[in-house]
Amino acid sequence: MLDSISGLRRTHLCGEITRDLLDREVVIMGWVQHRRDHGGLVFLDMRDRSGLVQTVFNPQEDEETHRRSHGVRSEYVLALRGRVRLRPPDMVNPKLPTGDVEVLIRELRVLNTAKTPPFVVEDEAQVSEAVRLKYRYLDLRRPRIQRIFALRDRVTRLTRGYFAEQGFLDVETPFLTKSTPEGARDFLVPSRLSPGSCYALPQSPQLFKQLLMMAGFDRYIQIARCFRDEDLRADRQPEFTQVDLEASFCGQEEIIQILEGYMSLLFREILGLELALPLPRLTYDEAMLRYGTDRPDLRYDLRIEDVSALFASSQARIFAEPLGQGGCVRVLRAPGAGPQLSRKQLDDLVALAIASGAKGLAWIRVSPEGWQGPVAKFLSPGERGALEGALAVGPGDILFFGADRADIVAPVLGRIRQTLAGLLGLDGSPGAAPDTAGWKLLWVTDFPMFEFSQEEKRLAALHHPFTAPREEDLAILDTAPLAVKAVAYDLVLNGSEIGGGSVRIHRPDVQERVFRALGLGPDEAGEKFGFFLEALAYGAPPHCGCAFGLDRLTALLAGQESIREVIAFPKTQKGACPLTDAPSPAAPAQLAELALKSVAAPPAPPGPGQPDAPGRDAAGRSDAEGPPT
Ligand code: AMO
Ligand code: AMP
Repeated sequence: MLDSISGLRRTHLCGEITRDLLDREVVIMGWVQHRRDHGGLVFLDMRDRSGLVQTVFNPQEDEETHRRSHGVRSEYVLALRGRVRLRPPDMVNPKLPTGDVEVLIRELRVLNTAKTPPFVVEDEAQVSEAVRLKYRYLDLRRPRIQRIFALRDRVTRLTRGYFAEQGFLDVETPFLTKSTPEGARDFLVPSRLSPGSCYALPQSPQLFKQLLMMAGFDRYIQIARCFRDEDLRADRQPEFTQVDLEASFCGQEEIIQILEGYMSLLFREILGLELALPLPRLTYDEAMLRYGTDRPDLRYDLRIEDVSALFASSQARIFAEPLGQGGCVRVLRAPGAGPQLSRKQLDDLVALAIASGAKGLAWIRVSPEGWQGPVAKFLSPGERGALEGALAVGPGDILFFGADRADIVAPVLGRIRQTLAGLLGLDGSPGAAPDTAGWKLLWVTDFPMFEFSQEEKRLAALHHPFTAPREEDLAILDTAPLAVKAVAYDLVLNGSEIGGGSVRIHRPDVQERVFRALGLGPDEAGEKFGFFLEALAYGAPPHCGCAFGLDRLTALLAGQESIREVIAFPKTQKGACPLTDAPSPAAPAQLAELALKSVAAPPAPPGPGQPDAPGRDAAGRSDAEGPPT
């Protein structure tokens, strides 16, 4: 029989029960973490969002209440009334804020029972992600995870507060809209009222926030959900959240200053660290050359050098051939890595380079006995001397060579650099670092406006097509588009792109030229973005903006590897939700209503191994055990 809550008011949260409340009568409500039966006494650890408190049932206090406490199990929902008292000294638990007290219970109400959970609700439980996500509501009960969401809540509050103070207006933009290109596939929503037509879910509010600038809103902020149908990874979800903002009548320097103020606030309030401002900057070209990526992790100082000039007259085929074809030779020096890397690890790195598109990865181990490795014999004494001078090579170093087109060598050596940092233990978790040393924030600026898409055999926008080219590059926009740089900036934290933005095009003629460079003729541009081009023609102010990936930022601040940890109900790598079983086949009637026909094969019946059969919990209790009487 379940009890009612009526007539009983919660007076305190479990985590609030401390010495200050000695001898006071309290009413707490929450979940049973754990039950221990010590002969005469029964102990129940009670949990709510605020923490844990120990309660005790003594037959001498109230015989009936004590008797009923025997039927209580983990995760039952209880309301308890009792008196706070000190624990005996040998029972004090210094690890708990409530650890020196307990509540002697006089009244027990069972508000609900619980089936045996598929895993014990505690931080240490070892559970597969599939089971965690299927029973996410149980997973979310765990204190560690509740702390993550409290942190996320603080981040969003600080965000709203900061930007409100800076004059940004919070405005919502539509989900049911037209395609807003950010480089991913759209999620489409078929329209019932316009058969055959679809809305697209926004990949970002990009066009709407620009329209708000044209509407005279001056400064806009939204904590906005975005939808992108792309291959998922640890730092990518099909729906995710951006701190999205836009400002009028200012340029890159003003917006960067505002954004640095925001970062500085988060670091101070969340991590207790003072950021040194202004943040360091690298141009895109420098970042690609030195680190082989546009989001370099600067927590470790492994660098890439271009040594093409040293190999100009090399006899070695692997260097001479690419140089002859306009390519380059670059070296990644791993100081002192020699003794730490096995031959197998070196072979794996070569395989990784080849899998990443290189023809090979020549390496040299520098030891007191000389230079060893597959290409050591190809180096002339002159080349060796020049390398030693240019790179400050020392015994114990390993040199990794990439020789090819620059756009192949850079990302390959970038991946090797990152993998190497992992192998050498250089990319330690920031949470462990006592100061800002573990946190490397920087801006990457001066991105190319376009890149050549090998797949589509045409130019594509590196940021998005509304990004402004540098004013001085307007003259070459039509003739040498690949040389045009954009006024765009990304914020990178420990090798992760946490935000990106740009100055926008506010002139219709420039926007049309950029569309043309992207292969969008007037008709196609008109069909896709006519409304936007028209809006630009009614007095668009100069404007710029940025969007932070709130999930990525929170994950990093919370020391989490995956953004799934900071999203209450995330999707799996396959874009599925194990909890609700979304996506699921649409009913024929729904399809008919939307004028759609399904050509997909019927879904397979659920296979074995589904995490849907809760077993016994750690205490050996099965579902069969009934509620208490
Ligand atoms: P961009 O596409 O760079 O820019 O996105 C901004 C930031 O959003 C985060 N992000 C993601 N987070 C989780 N899952 C994803 N699938 C995902 N995709 C992106 C990243 C990224 O830095 N409208 C522009 C911004 C602007 O120009 O103002 C935009 O969306 O942290
Ligand atoms: P090969 O002559 O192809 O057997 O290559 C000799 C060594 O050079 C091997 O260790 C290859 O991994 C490496 N190598 C081959 N081509 C390249 C290249 N383009 N850039 C860097 N290393 C290479």
